[in-house]
Amino acid sequence: EKTYQVAVIPGDGTGPEVMREALKVLTTVAAEEGFGVETFPYDLGGDRYLKTGEILPNGVVDELRGFDAILLGAIGHPDVTPGVLEKGLLLELRFQLDQYVNLRPVILYPGVDTPLKDKGPEDIDFVVVRENTEGLYAGAGGILRKGTPHEVAIQESVNTRMGVERCIRFAFEYCRKRNRKKKVTLCGKTNVLTYAFNLWERAFYEVAREYPDIETDYAHVDATCMWMVKNPEWFDVIVTDNLFGDIITDLGAMIQGGMGIAAGGNLNPQGVSMFEPIGGSAPKYTGKNVINPLAAIAAVQMMLEHLGEDKAARRVEDAIRVVLSRHVKSLAAGRMGYSTSEVGDLVAKYVKEPVAG
Ligand code: IPM
Ligand code: MN
Repeated sequence: EKTYQVAVIPGDGTGPEVMREALKVLTTVAAEEGFGVETFPYDLGGDRYLKTGEILPNGVVDELRGFDAILLGAIGHPDVTPGVLEKGLLLELRFQLDQYVNLRPVILYPGVDTPLKDKGPEDIDFVVVRENTEGLYAGAGGILRKGTPHEVAIQESVNTRMGVERCIRFAFEYCRKRNRKKKVTLCGKTNVLTYAFNLWERAFYEVAREYPDIETDYAHVDATCMWMVKNPEWFDVIVTDNLFGDIITDLGAMIQGGMGIAAGGNLNPQGVSMFEPIGGSAPKYTGKNVINPLAAIAAVQMMLEHLGEDKAARRVEDAIRVVLSRHVKSLAAGRMGYSTSEVGDLVAKYVKEPVAG
């Protein structure tokens, strides 16, 4: 019997609550499908930082490299200066573990409301492949003449051929496997960011030549936002840089019904990958048992897919679909019609006893 070793970072705010439900579902599906899961909790995040001053203690990253996968709840604490934990923990993990793709599916499930008029589940089904180790997130910067009227802040975007190309290649490979519309759209800003996206564009069309079965398309990031709202059915796989990917995937989460269902994977296909609900730590809902755990459960589904446990992944997805179509009234915290733990129980129940739609 295969046993997976999974590091678990519940993190801040509602992170621990949603993680509890995610692990409930993981344990259930593992028992059903006959594989083992051993979880190893890591107490990282705002509380630890406030108590000890430690964000990512020495040695932790090397320990994490030894796991089959990592699950992350949420990072962000109201008493910690914005940026400290985000950069010191979440981005540091992505960078040090070289998780160069941030994969974010945008899927509208039946029974879920989208703010888009006249659009349904058949129209909203695409994935964003976000470069996850470079761009404006990794560039140098500085503030000159700080505090004077002549202050200048500079923030550079770093785009390496290797980093861009491996991300683009992942997008084409993923598109082939997805087998839907078979189209990869490069989302950039070639009309203004003429250095960065010149490199992206050349890499994109060169890699595309290796995939003659896949259609290519290009859209500026502003137009991408427009089409995501107006014609989301045009998209299959979108590949883009770190910041644009960050921005358009929040828009993506909204058109798929909200943060309550949006999950992502920080992938290093050669190393250890980390899966997370993409919403924040939601401090105001902390401890109330009202936050939606489905995004964290969907992160477990992505992790199972990544580990090659396709049957288990499908079982979790099917259970999520049933819970969405039969039970939860809204994805929003406090309006689900069920508590956090009840939603987790429901998903676990349908994992055990699958039913149709
Ligand atoms: C995300 C988040 C992070 C990001 C923040 C918390 C640093 O918004 O995962 O999308 O910008 O990548
Ligand atoms: Mn974001």
